[in-house]
Amino acid sequence: IKTRNYRIAVIPGDGIGIEVVDAGLHVLDYLANESNGDFTFETDFFPWGCEYYLENGKMMDEDGVEKLSDYDAIYFGAVGFPGVPDHVSLWGLRLAICQGLDQWANIRPVEFLPGVPRRLNHPDVDNLNWILVRENSEGEYSGVGGRNFSGREGSNEVAVQSALFTEKGCERIIRFAFDLARTRKRKKVTSVTKSNAQQYGMVLWDEVFARVSKEYPDVETDQWLVDAMAAQFVLHPEELEVVVASNLFADILSDLGSALAGSLGIAASANLNPVKRTPSMFESVHGSAPDIAGKGIANPIGTIGSAALMLDHLGLSEEASRINQAIEETTRQGILTRDLGGTHNTAEITDAIIKNLSKRK
Ligand code: NAI
Ligand code: MG
Repeated sequence: IKTRNYRIAVIPGDGIGIEVVDAGLHVLDYLANESNGDFTFETDFFPWGCEYYLENGKMMDEDGVEKLSDYDAIYFGAVGFPGVPDHVSLWGLRLAICQGLDQWANIRPVEFLPGVPRRLNHPDVDNLNWILVRENSEGEYSGVGGRNFSGREGSNEVAVQSALFTEKGCERIIRFAFDLARTRKRKKVTSVTKSNAQQYGMVLWDEVFARVSKEYPDVETDQWLVDAMAAQFVLHPEELEVVVASNLFADILSDLGSALAGSLGIAASANLNPVKRTPSMFESVHGSAPDIAGKGIANPIGTIGSAALMLDHLGLSEEASRINQAIEETTRQGILTRDLGGTHNTAEITDAIIKNLSKRK
């Protein structure tokens, strides 16, 4: 048989990013070894992040995006650490990659795992099947704006931060959400904006949503303002399935969703270039968590779940679902990190997940 070799660029980044990516790579190693030469993962490490910045004055190499474009996928930890301003580290690495490689769809499933104490107290919690679809290339994170009158005696500094919405950008992410909904149980898309106050960009979004929805008569639709949606997550979670929103709103709602499901530490995500013109990037939803970094106690589930999303994207969907089953089995057994009320550390959770993977052989 011919061995399939997948080339993966690994960027552990900062803080717990380094610890959880290491955990995820153990899982990938196990699967590759077990495949008996069916497939292999060739990993190249890129030391980019805040330490790199302090030494080199930049978050990554100038031709970083170009270097990454040769790979089949990018596996990312997290970026940000005290000592480097967060807007510098985020824009210098994660946003530079997402925008540079045109990863315009960020998908963030919210899993309600067995054995995990949920913060959401709702009778339907076991049947919840949420997936957030985040516009990942423009909106509030387009980086359009500027500052003026800074540092002048007695001046009132001004800052303009514009949100950018294009018809094409709205249409492709909304279409992506509808296509995704068609593959799911309920076939429902909920669109979230704040078009009463954001009367230009988000009204355009609403209009595109209405137009595209006509092409999907089999998909149920719903539209909400983001403030009411935040309450809906808690009050009527059973009404949600695929939720599509702008860059900022979906960022916020995905943290809310994963916290309701138990912890920020369990949430996986994929930054996709859906047409596969460029490599996609897989990372947990959480950040570098400086408060617990270096202690070996970070929850690796979000990053291991992101590896499953990566395998799915690479066409190894059976292995992807085995990872997800092994994660479920592990939490069902009550093997939990501290953020979920348990006592286990990163290495113990990772070992347990690998052990559960091997059981299903
Ligand atoms: P954070 O997600 O790093 O942490 C928020 C809270 O959740 C902390 O109390 C942390 O200990 C906890 N937490 C997060 N992940 C966890 C895990 N896997 N296991 C256990 N507990 C976990 O967000 P925060 O504190 O706002 O930001 C810290 C740094 O991360 C900042 O520099 C920020 O800019 C950066 N950041 C980077 C992101 C990325 O690389 N995609 C996303 C969000 C923040
Ligand atoms: Mg976030």
